[in-house]
Amino acid sequence: MLSTKPKFLIRTIGCQMNSFDSSIYLKVLTDYGFEETSEISESSIVLINTCAVRDKSVQKAASCIGEARHLKQEKPNLIICVLGCASELLKDSSHKKKVDYFCGALNSSQADSSFYKLLDDKGFKYKPVSSHSLQLTSKTSHFIPIIFGCNSFCTYCIVPYVRGREKSRPFEDIKREIIQAVSEGATEIILLGQNVNCYGKDFLEKTDFPSLLDKIAIIPGIKRLDFLTSHPREFNKNLLQVMKNHKNIVHRFHFPIQNGDNDILKRMRRGYTVEEYLEKISWIRDIFPIASITTDIIVGFPGESEEAFQNTLELINTAKFDSIYGAVYSPRPLTKASEYADRVPLNVGKERLNKVLEIQKNITRSNILRFQNTNSSVYVIENSNPDSITGKTWEDRLISFKPLDELPKIGQVVEVNVEYIENFKLFGKQIKNGNQ
Ligand code: SAH
Ligand code: SF4
Ligand code: F3S
Repeated sequence: MLSTKPKFLIRTIGCQMNSFDSSIYLKVLTDYGFEETSEISESSIVLINTCAVRDKSVQKAASCIGEARHLKQEKPNLIICVLGCASELLKDSSHKKKVDYFCGALNSSQADSSFYKLLDDKGFKYKPVSSHSLQLTSKTSHFIPIIFGCNSFCTYCIVPYVRGREKSRPFEDIKREIIQAVSEGATEIILLGQNVNCYGKDFLEKTDFPSLLDKIAIIPGIKRLDFLTSHPREFNKNLLQVMKNHKNIVHRFHFPIQNGDNDILKRMRRGYTVEEYLEKISWIRDIFPIASITTDIIVGFPGESEEAFQNTLELINTAKFDSIYGAVYSPRPLTKASEYADRVPLNVGKERLNKVLEIQKNITRSNILRFQNTNSSVYVIENSNPDSITGKTWEDRLISFKPLDELPKIGQVVEVNVEYIENFKLFGKQIKNGNQ
């Protein structure tokens, strides 16, 4: 039978924090009797959850809004909501028309009361659903923010202006949310924060991220525990010790350096030097020799000379990252760097980005060979083909493997031997159940 429930569509642009916010809206809409759709034409409400980090992301949001406004010409009752980090930037007169609701990033695990009011005013009825197994990640994998906002004010970055100051969440709140997620079937928990290593700095009672992680890792039911982002400035050996003590914590580090030149790092206000960064990488590799380390790089930052850029290439060759999320610098409103006069032309920035990605491609290709013949814990993500199960290793690599006699379940952890590597993917065979 065809469902008569009203439908909603959520477009999420940006980082995992935005995915988390979208999951909050998804719950509220489910409580108002809505059902999710991927077809904009059949939706009664469209939510566009926006990102402001680069001009390109704002343009993407603007085009999604354009599409929704176009549809509203035929469907005048369509409700359009513009949410998230770029909502203030998009509030100009041309977008204001036909948009029913604007709201910034949530920075809490609840939607604003104005969103409930909007739905009430439009005549929808609130009838809460007792269990929410709906998540934007998947049923077995949940994002849990541990700290909202950011106090770092890196000179290129708009995030502190759109997400506000750091606000750590009390352990009891985090624990309650994890227990709830586990009771709904989650086995993987991904802790989120712009800089998880600043956790607890805003509390009167002294605590820090390693202590929090130590307490979270023992919450029953968590088979895989992941976190991001780990800012190099506050990263310390205590964190590595806690990671070593708990088998359910992954061996992967998203460790954004942003640039390989010390003068540029200073101008970016990152708070570390290339040498300090590389030393921290050596701490990681001393304890977890095959850990995966990924990074973010911005090229074309104001004042980046050819010589400075060469330092970034040298850093990339030395650090041997598993992958790089590269971007050309995009001037952002309100930020300090947007006032710097010595801008690098966009075409130079684009050329530099291509060079970075080209060099990294070869490094990624040779780096992956280190997994040959290693054993790793693998988190199962797909089991529809009983001869070839898909999962992700503790180093966050995709792997296909032949199972033992019993078919492993999605969200379960098994031990796998890597037999060979093809097209950036690992292939292997299961050697035992579980890693705990
Ligand atoms: N809190 C994280 C970064 C969050 S923003 C950290 O400190 O590492 C995600 C990424 O967007 C950044 O790592 C950076 O590489 C990129 N980014 C942020 N502002 C940018 C800008 N103005 N231009 C280009 N890239 C930017
Ligand atoms: Fe932006 Fe820097 Fe904060 Fe990361 S740490 S969100 S790059 S200001
Ligand atoms: Fe994330 Fe973009 Fe906001 S990167 S915090 S969604 S500005």
